[in-house]
Amino acid sequence: MNSSRENELEAAIRTVELAEAPATRILIADDDALQLEMLEHFLHHRGYEVYTASNGAEAYQMAREHDIRLIVTDWMMPELTGVELCRKLRENEMSGYVYVILLTSRNRSDEIIEGMSAGADDFIAKPFNPEELRVRLEAGQRVLANETRDMAIFMLAKLAESRDPETGQHLERVQRYASVLARTLAKGRRYGDLIDPGFIRTVYLTSPLHDVGKVGIPDAVLLKPGRLTPEEFEIMKQHTLIGARTIEAIIQEYPGVRFLEFARDIIRSHHEKWDGTGYPDRLEGEDIPLPARIVAVADVYDALTSKRVYKDAFSPKKARDILVSDAGSHFDPEVVEAFLACEDEFDQIRRRFNDAAGPSELELAELVQQAESISGD
Ligand SMILES: [Fe+2]
Ligand SMILES: [Fe+2]
Repeated sequence: MNSSRENELEAAIRTVELAEAPATRILIADDDALQLEMLEHFLHHRGYEVYTASNGAEAYQMAREHDIRLIVTDWMMPELTGVELCRKLRENEMSGYVYVILLTSRNRSDEIIEGMSAGADDFIAKPFNPEELRVRLEAGQRVLANETRDMAIFMLAKLAESRDPETGQHLERVQRYASVLARTLAKGRRYGDLIDPGFIRTVYLTSPLHDVGKVGIPDAVLLKPGRLTPEEFEIMKQHTLIGARTIEAIIQEYPGVRFLEFARDIIRSHHEKWDGTGYPDRLEGEDIPLPARIVAVADVYDALTSKRVYKDAFSPKKARDILVSDAGSHFDPEVVEAFLACEDEFDQIRRRFNDAAGPSELELAELVQQAESISGD
């Protein structure tokens, strides 16, 4: 087993976890010394690590130097105004998003338009109520936590994917199949109470991690073209435990974080079977965590309908027949039922993220749109 890769994986997961903790480092910029002192005092007492700057240029410098993600800045300041500071931060964004709250003297809509166009996230009118500042900062911290975490999870999945030669757009498809299944199950009687919007989103977010433990599988096994011998298959099975062990260590330190628990369940149990003949724990029926039962169907459907070194892609009809005949043995019958109810959506996803084809017209249109919105046209 490659322990440096496992360390790399653990470090990456820790980055994800840190993103859960709110950013507490904050920069305030104001040329009014009295106001600056008052803000510093207020924020310091609320547990923030406070940096101060008396003009925009100094604020910009400080934000870069100390990797500050949360800024409260006055509008009118010498050298760089708050709006100019915003624009400069946005133009030179490096490692991550910076959340900027502008202090305004008036709450005029033309000021708000100007500020938002420059990239400000929020506004507070002076003189302000300290409690308002507190809740607005908390909103900013939530935005930062989500952004960093989503990005880090995606990077983590890609790290594992880069080691797997067969995946193509496997992760993109599985992620969508799984969330369509969760959404369909949410409407059903059996699991309707268990699945809320947070569940669906967390399944979407964490399902690409299902094979993250493959980073710990030796190349000779992982990259072998063709079928594995029984001994090699035993080694390959370890990917569920390698991935789960890594994440387990972090759950010990940060218990109760939902996405980590989802990720752990999916990584460890996506090869379990409904009748108890799967691995690694031979769990049976509803003892297998629901997110893992959902990902199992999504993952197998994609493997069946994709071309692999040792097999051609099966037709969607053949894949469906296999899922149906394995309902109750390999798969949770309820999840297969959900699959039958949303086959059309599976079809669309399969076509849209087709490995053989280039981007579809729809994707091209979306790419053009994205490019335009980034360039600000
Ligand atoms: Fe797997
Ligand atoms: Fe997979």
